[in-house]
Amino acid sequence: MKIAILPGDGIGPEITAQAVKVLNALNEKFELESADVGGAGYAAHGHPLPQQTLALAKAADAVLFGAVGDYQYDKLERALRPEQAILGLRKELGLFANLRPAILYPELAGASTLKPEVVSGLDILIIRELTGDIYFGKPRGVRTCPDGPFLGEREGFDTMRYAEGEIRRIAHVAFQAARKRGNRVTSVDKANVLETFQFWRDIVTDVHQEYQDVELEHMYVDNAAMQLVRAPKKFDVIVTGNMFGDILSDAAAMLTGSIGMLPSASLDANNKGLYEPSHGSAPDIAGKGVANPLATILSAAMMLRFSLGKTEQADRIETAVKKVLAQGLRTADIFEEGTTRVGTEQMGDAVVNALA
Ligand code: IPM
Ligand code: MG
Repeated sequence: MKIAILPGDGIGPEITAQAVKVLNALNEKFELESADVGGAGYAAHGHPLPQQTLALAKAADAVLFGAVGDYQYDKLERALRPEQAILGLRKELGLFANLRPAILYPELAGASTLKPEVVSGLDILIIRELTGDIYFGKPRGVRTCPDGPFLGEREGFDTMRYAEGEIRRIAHVAFQAARKRGNRVTSVDKANVLETFQFWRDIVTDVHQEYQDVELEHMYVDNAAMQLVRAPKKFDVIVTGNMFGDILSDAAAMLTGSIGMLPSASLDANNKGLYEPSHGSAPDIAGKGVANPLATILSAAMMLRFSLGKTEQADRIETAVKKVLAQGLRTADIFEEGTTRVGTEQMGDAVVNALA
């Protein structure tokens, strides 16, 4: 089984190194191959998603991705910015289903900014459509305003759109995921204002006919944002579009206290996937050896589970992570009085030891 390792920028290389260490400790016959991506891809090959990197990702059974982005690349034209690497991979690999679990580990209840009783036991799964919506809709750009009170001025514009098949396939993913969990789906939209999302609601309702055993609720995105901080435990599976999912998944991540703990999976129709931590490249702490590698290590566990069919090994990693938390080991982002502060490498080593 071939795994493409794309470390990227900022803390990306440090955290993926820990996940690689854990994968190697499993004693499986994985073939790991690394390639440059993001700012590192631009620096080495003049493009954030170099051709050889894309080719490797396509040829691999799964992709483990670190993070991309660094200050020095912020001023590049959009097509050359690090973010284009991840958007390009999603599109080129057809990774339309983004799974972002938000789980509160009991040991970390104190790390949340919300009251413990609001978040303890939290276990929600956000399923974000990842290759459509306003993110990829065309036309887009800057043009001369064709009408209205600002006629003739310059205007920026994007296109929000969802095809029926696009909505159907992500709805199926959500209902099927719900059956393996709490059997409830909340579909988040803006049907009261947007044509695209009235259509979304209609199609999700139609797909639901095939899943009468699953409870379906529709919710407007503004209300969903409010409910996420008011009573997050009411949610089981949330399914939504690309843009709303981007925003809500960051909010959900913070309920758990640390975005440094949350993995994610981006899957195609055949469960081939790209796995990455939910957090970014954190250039401010890059190279300091203090970043939390657990989200990336847990992403590797998701990869074993969803793309490589190695459920037992995935369980082993997840159990090992719980063990190191129970041992009181904490990186800076989750540190609390009375626990032991460790660096990136020490945390990786601790997980490897806990696998035994
Ligand atoms: C994410 C990120 C990306 C997105 C950026 C880096 C393009 O915020 O994965 O949530 O907006 O999808
Ligand atoms: Mg985001």
